[in-house]
This record gives sequence, structure tokens and C-alpha cells, in this order.
Amino acid sequence: PFVTATADQSLKGRVALVTGGTRGIGAAISRGLAGAGATVAAAYAGNTGRARDFVDRCRTEFGADAERVGAHQADVSSPADCRRLVSDVVERHGRIDILVNNAGITIDRTVARMAEADWQQVLDVNLSGPFYLAQAALGAMVEQGSGRIVMISSVIGETGNIGQANYAAAKSGLFGLTKTLAREAAFQLAKTGRQDPYGPGITVNAVTPGFIATEMLEHIPAKVLDRIVGQVPLGRLGRPEEVARLVRFLADDASAYITGQVWGVNGGLDM
Ligand code: NAI
Repeated sequence: PFVTATADQSLKGRVALVTGGTRGIGAAISRGLAGAGATVAAAYAGNTGRARDFVDRCRTEFGADAERVGAHQADVSSPADCRRLVSDVVERHGRIDILVNNAGITIDRTVARMAEADWQQVLDVNLSGPFYLAQAALGAMVEQGSGRIVMISSVIGETGNIGQANYAAAKSGLFGLTKTLAREAAFQLAKTGRQDPYGPGITVNAVTPGFIATEMLEHIPAKVLDRIVGQVPLGRLGRPEEVARLVRFLADDASAYITGQVWGVNGGLDM
């Protein structure tokens, strides 16, 4: 079901950029943030018609105008697109408070069969994209004295998986990026000397979803999916909203003392 606005409007006035923000887990994240009052720039890779549909539904649902929920086309594997995306958001809304690096792809092959291009493409989208965007957004966050960066990694980054060397490497690469950014952001903010130590500050965290029912799972044969579900202690797939709820918390001022952490949302698949 389409999530409605919550009574809690604690993200009112905040500006969020969500990559891959118009479908699957990213759409649930965009809705969750918009529902809490944030202005949301939902980035998408290519399907403009579909992105517009999503944005129209959000605006109807939240009674939001075009200024509060918008769609932005950008390829996150392109450093130039990432810089343009962040500067578009800052130009349009005057700030950037929340960056959710959610866009991701899989190109599965065993290591023995994996083409260099398939290795590289998955690294470019899933790991380099989050780096380019965080690099572009960090300056504004330091300037503002606050910010939230959330990386959508994967349980596969923690466990590895047959046929997913590229994806697992990129997703666990996000842990190192998250922890380093968490330290650098805090350091840079402290250096400004204007920081309130009990204020919202800048935090950087990673979320590792388990198997969540989205289009990403559509190419997995039913038999294989059944076997996967059989390994999940809670005995079912996750829902995009269950990931979005955690991201919403990590985007809030209330999570100010939580940084550099990896958060599992996996039904107990990895403990
Ligand atoms: P999805 O395939 O529905 O969404 C992926 C999104 O990434 C799409 O909106 C797509 O437009 C965007 N994207 C892909 N390449 C892009 C590029 N070059 N530039 C900009 N955007 C691009 O998949 P889903 O399931 O919603 O995945 C979202 C994130 O969650 C991904 O990072 C995925 O790796 C991660 N994840 C998903 C799990 C699942 O079971 N569905 C489990 C663990 C992590």
C-alpha cells in the first residue's frame, strides 16, 4: 500500500536526495521521508514516464507541490552526473540534508565466467556512485553544520554469494566508505569550530537489507527463492517499507549519536 503522511513531521524543512528513488526500496524510502515532511529529490536512471508517475502519486498522497517532491534523471556511475545532481538539488532547494545512496544493479556470473565489463559496471554503479555523490554533498553538509548519509548495501556484502563477486565486493566496499566518511565528516565539522556537540551533526551509516520483495528479485527462479526464504529465520521476504523505516530513523536528528554503523534488515538471515 502507498504509505500516507505520518503525524511525525520531524523532517519538515529537510532536503533529501534518494538515488534509485522512484521504484523498489528507493521508492519506499522517498515516500517515508516525504511522509515525515522532507522535501525529496528522487533520482532515477532512465525511465522518465515511470518516474513522473511515481512523483505524481507522491504529490497526490502527501498533498505536496512540485517543489517538495521531484524526479531527477542521472546516471550514478558518471561522476559528472553525480556532481550535477547534487548541485541541482542545492540550487533548487538551497541545501541538502539527507543523501540516500540506494541505486544498485546486479550482473551475476561466477568468477570463472565474469567478464571484466560486468565486474566494472557493478562496481561503478554500486560503489563509485555513492562515493561521487557523498563527495559532492559533503561540503554543503559541513557548511550547514548537519547532514545524514545512508548507504544501501546488502546482506551479500556481509556473507558473499555464489555468482555475485562483483556485487558482494561493491556492497562490502560500502562499509569501508561509510566508516571513513563517518570519521572524515565528523572531523571536518569539528574543524569549523561552529559545531554544537549535542546537535544533529553529520552521520554516515550503512543499511544491509536481506531479501526484499522488489523487481531486483524477479530474475531469481522461484525454486531458488524458496530455498532462500527457507534460510530466513523469520520465514519470509522483507518489504521495502521495512527498510525505509530504518532509513527514516537514520535520517532524523534523533539518531545523532549513531555513525559509522552497519544496520541489518534481513529477517535474521545473517546474525
Ligand atoms: P530495483 O532494481 O527495483 O531498483 C534499483 C534502482 O537503482 C532503480 O531505481 C534504478 O533506476 C536505479 N539504478 C540502477 N542503475 C542506475 C544508474 N546507473 N544510475 C542511477 N540509478 C540507477 O532494486 P531494489 O531491490 O529496490 O534495490 C535498491 C537497493 O537495495 C540496491 O542498491 C540493491 O542492491 C539493494 N538491495 C536490494 C535487496 C533486495 O532483495 N531487493 C537486498 C539487499 C540490497
